[in-house]
Amino acid sequence: MQNHFLKLSDFTKGELDDLFTLTRDLKAKQKKGVEHHLLKGKALAMIFEKSSTRTRISFEVGIYQLGGHGLFISSGTSQMGRGEPIKDTARILARYCDGVMIRTFGQEIVDEFARYSSVPVINGLTDLFHPCQIMADLFTVIEARGSYEGLKIAWVGDGNNMANTWIEAAAIFGFDLALACPKGYEPDAQVMAWAQAKAPGRITLTGDPKEAVKDADVLNTDVWASMGQEAEQKEREKAFAGYQLDESLVNLARGNCMVLHCLPAHRGEEIADDVIEGPHSAVWDEAENRLHIQKAIMATLMG
Ligand code: CP
Ligand code: NVA
Repeated sequence: MQNHFLKLSDFTKGELDDLFTLTRDLKAKQKKGVEHHLLKGKALAMIFEKSSTRTRISFEVGIYQLGGHGLFISSGTSQMGRGEPIKDTARILARYCDGVMIRTFGQEIVDEFARYSSVPVINGLTDLFHPCQIMADLFTVIEARGSYEGLKIAWVGDGNNMANTWIEAAAIFGFDLALACPKGYEPDAQVMAWAQAKAPGRITLTGDPKEAVKDADVLNTDVWASMGQEAEQKEREKAFAGYQLDESLVNLARGNCMVLHCLPAHRGEEIADDVIEGPHSAVWDEAENRLHIQKAIMATLMG
């Protein structure tokens, strides 16, 4: 098993399935109040170059529940914000901490950090990938459906970090993924090429949301402008017209479909209020599962 968690394609299906097994165990222990101090006395540094609610709190509470301690580091108030090189920060933090979680912009930043870090590095979101989130999403699907096998998962919206990570997941786990993205907002071409080669025919890309959601078991969307793209909001609103996950799209999916959204959501933009609040929505379980999956990731890497 890799000692960093930077992207799903660094792992085999078996290794990722083992994380789901451990997640189930840790979640059950936490619900029953059974102590599970697998990381007693260990410290996790959490570096944020972007905003966060779920990631910060779930990692901080997660390491605490495992018997360790989490340290929040905002790049702006550390020397990173004044230009201290990544490679220096990585080597210093490894002298104090037993693991590092980073949320940043380019994937190359987490890659470089990991190259210089002698302790495990976990990707807490980059512009390219959000692997902890997709693992939480799949765990939510497994809890509700027993498995991801044989399911059709649909993505409607931006070909962003979430979409790219779903593409890797579909190729690794072997489920069908249908994406609908507007022209010019398609997923990363290299990620798509890798996945198509690994799992030919599993992943389809269309410009028609109706086609993507047809008979789908799981429907997903995300904001139209991700963190760092705020200036493009207006232009994106125009490009994404017709891409709102609303009741008419949900009605084309399977009757028992699940609706996922990594949150935060913009109601009335990428998702309709009655869909996120409706009977198909699993977004609160999905958000909770960030805690449980990340505990399994930390325990596996840092244990
Ligand atoms: N889904 C997610 O990563 O949420 P935050 O941005 O609040 O961490
Ligand atoms: N695509 C979004 C996900 C937020 C959790 C972003 O990168 O801002």
